Amino acid sequence: MRLEPPPRGAPPQVAAVLLEEARIAARVAELGAAITADYAGREVVLVTLLRGGLYFLADLCRAIEGETRLDFIAITSYGAASRQGGVRITKDLDENIEGAHVLVVEDIIDTGLTLNYLMGVLRSRKPASLEVAVLLDRDQRRIADLPIAYRGFHMPDTFAIGYGLDLGGRFRNLRYLGVLSDEALAEAGLA
Ligand code: PRP
Repeated sequence: MRLEPPPRGAPPQVAAVLLEEARIAARVAELGAAITADYAGREVVLVTLLRGGLYFLADLCRAIEGETRLDFIAITSYGAASRQGGVRITKDLDENIEGAHVLVVEDIIDTGLTLNYLMGVLRSRKPASLEVAVLLDRDQRRIADLPIAYRGFHMPDTFAIGYGLDLGGRFRNLRYLGVLSDEALAEAGLA
């Protein structure tokens, strides 16, 4: 991925742009077209894990021509050590997904542990099909390997913000994917 300078008006914490708005939009349109073709004539239930995936979901669902429903789930984990076993659902789906064609929509996959847990939960509810759409695949630290049917981009092992990705809850609403400055990384204790 080539780095571009931050756009005018970008917060000072953004050192560079990893993915510009137009590039994200073009890729989301391609993914939407692929999903439209693959699910032709079938309703697809888009399940998103709160909260980072919301931004990708909002654009992706409008790039799909066909019937979609949305549902949301939230989980909490207790630090790295317990992530493999100590995960708890804090907000469950509203709908029964038995027999439904479910597509999980995620902003980023890193270790894969979150998605692995979520897929186990969803699979136990017997959907007719269960696939994954992820915008950003940061696979350098992958622990749980899962098949990804729809992937936006592979990304380097960089701390990024924007398009749903946050730093302490901030910057999710940036329309592009940005790289943090060294100062911002140091301030956040990530350097
Ligand atoms: C991010 C992302 C995934 C998870 C991926 O969520 O949305 O759910 O991390 O990491 P993993 O592959 O290492 O498990 P985060 O915990 O940052 O919460 P958020 O969605 O509220 O930003």
